[in-house]
Amino acid sequence: MTTNPKRMLKLNYSERLSVKSDLAQTKSWEVLEQYVSPIEQVKNLAIEAFQNKGGSAWRKIQFLLFDMNLRLMREGFGLGTPRLLREWELRNLIEQIEQQHLPQEKVPSELAPVELFMPWLKDRISQHRVNHHPLFELFDRDDLSDEEVRYFLANYRVNMQRFHLHVAAFSLIVPFEMREELYHNLHDEFGQGDFSQAHPNLYEPLMDHFGGAQEEDINPESCHLLNTKINLCWFGDGLAYGIGGMGALELAIPLQQRRFLAHLRRRGLSEDLVKFFVVHCELDEDHGEGWFAAGMPYIKSLEDLQKVFSSAMRILEARAGVYDGIFNGIIERRNQANKYLFTV
Ligand SMILES: [Fe+2]
Repeated sequence: MTTNPKRMLKLNYSERLSVKSDLAQTKSWEVLEQYVSPIEQVKNLAIEAFQNKGGSAWRKIQFLLFDMNLRLMREGFGLGTPRLLREWELRNLIEQIEQQHLPQEKVPSELAPVELFMPWLKDRISQHRVNHHPLFELFDRDDLSDEEVRYFLANYRVNMQRFHLHVAAFSLIVPFEMREELYHNLHDEFGQGDFSQAHPNLYEPLMDHFGGAQEEDINPESCHLLNTKINLCWFGDGLAYGIGGMGALELAIPLQQRRFLAHLRRRGLSEDLVKFFVVHCELDEDHGEGWFAAGMPYIKSLEDLQKVFSSAMRILEARAGVYDGIFNGIIERRNQANKYLFTV
């Protein structure tokens, strides 16, 4: 049986949670068209994308991967279909190119015992630019319109909705004992037995309060964070990458969310509406500690520590990219509004 390659990545966008723009979908299709002919063209596009993050090649590559990842979450890997090999080839190609552009900082060999490595890693996590992003200053100064908060929440939501899936996928490749911690994390994600309190359910009233998410809000950087988590947790080369990436993400989240939460409270929102952020300020630091406590016994060599560190920095940089995208989007929209006022 032959399958029309143009149909392979056709996505069903009817589900409400699948927030992405038709425009982006069209652009992904353009990339696919290029892929269907020589893969060399996608390779060139990916090289351009990682050399010039923020450009049109970057946008195309991130939405292409995002499309594939949404389909993966909806329909699985497609074993026995041409889609499987095609997508693996694309993923592998893009990942290899991205890896060439990652920072190559080495973990000093004297940090080899885990007892020395962990305090150093935690220090590096708290120093990371993701925790000191200029976007937070807008929150601290209460310098955001309702529309800007809506735009922020819509981008944050892209990853918030799907966090539990990375934990679940990663659990398939970790040792039995470590799964206990991950399933404990999932139990929290699903409201500790009360589905109405599952974290995506807590988020929606807040999102709706500001007018809901619009497909065209979504930045390629928000897709890139999701794509990065998929690469580390679903397709990782061993468990060290997932431990470093997810552990770092969870440890750092409360530092960031406290500032969002304080702003939302100053706007006069009820405790019910801001519950998503309250819960995460309380839970995620424990989750981060839990990930490292459960995973580090399996990290034995300096090479493994290097993987933990590299993936921690990689995922925090991807999260910082989400904030870059939102911050730049806000500034751009303000500049456009000013220009409009000036011309009228
Ligand atoms: Fe959560």
